[in-house]
Amino acid sequence: MKTPGGGYGFRFFDVDGRTVEVSADVRARRHRRVEEKESVPVRLSHVVLNSPDLDRTRAWYERHLGFALSDTLSSPHMGEVMHFMRISSQHHSMALAKGPHTSLHHVSFEMRGIDEYMRGSGRVMRAGFRKVWGPGRHVAGDNTFTYFLDPHGNTVEYTTELEELDEDTWHPHVYDFSQPEVTDQWGTANPMNELIAKESFNDIDRSCFVAPPV
Ligand SMILES: [Fe+2]
Repeated sequence: MKTPGGGYGFRFFDVDGRTVEVSADVRARRHRRVEEKESVPVRLSHVVLNSPDLDRTRAWYERHLGFALSDTLSSPHMGEVMHFMRISSQHHSMALAKGPHTSLHHVSFEMRGIDEYMRGSGRVMRAGFRKVWGPGRHVAGDNTFTYFLDPHGNTVEYTTELEELDEDTWHPHVYDFSQPEVTDQWGTANPMNELIAKESFNDIDRSCFVAPPV
């Protein structure tokens, strides 16, 4: 491929019409060393997708791409609203959120530990971007979170210390997210409510079943 890093790949639509791209043999980009206490994300942690039919999308990713369910968020009032999906021992690389339409929920960037995560969160706040939710620490995945809106209205997250689990012995939990300590173990985040949840519904993905240019 004549793209940065070379290699080869192919693309296909998932059950909701998102374009999924698989790349192989791509050369790693050279990068400088990130110094201690620099608030620079070191890798993509996970992506969360809004889906109008959670179980249909979950079944598709399990069957066609080998994902497995790690945990589910549910409440007596709303039923199941999020499935955390793994493709390795990392608790989730993807999650599916119940949304009104097919769209992006959020993209999460991994920081190296609590200090760099807090420094990064503070840097974004000082730069004047709107903090939607956080800082806090989820039960599902045990990871920390601060969510912001980017200039295009997409939600982005800084996180660290996402749980590594033993895939041979793991049994998925169903957590009741109406309990505040489920969404935030620490109690430092602003309380989750319907208005905050709606910030991540995003606009409907207009490129469903339309392949973007190569
Ligand atoms: Fe996240």
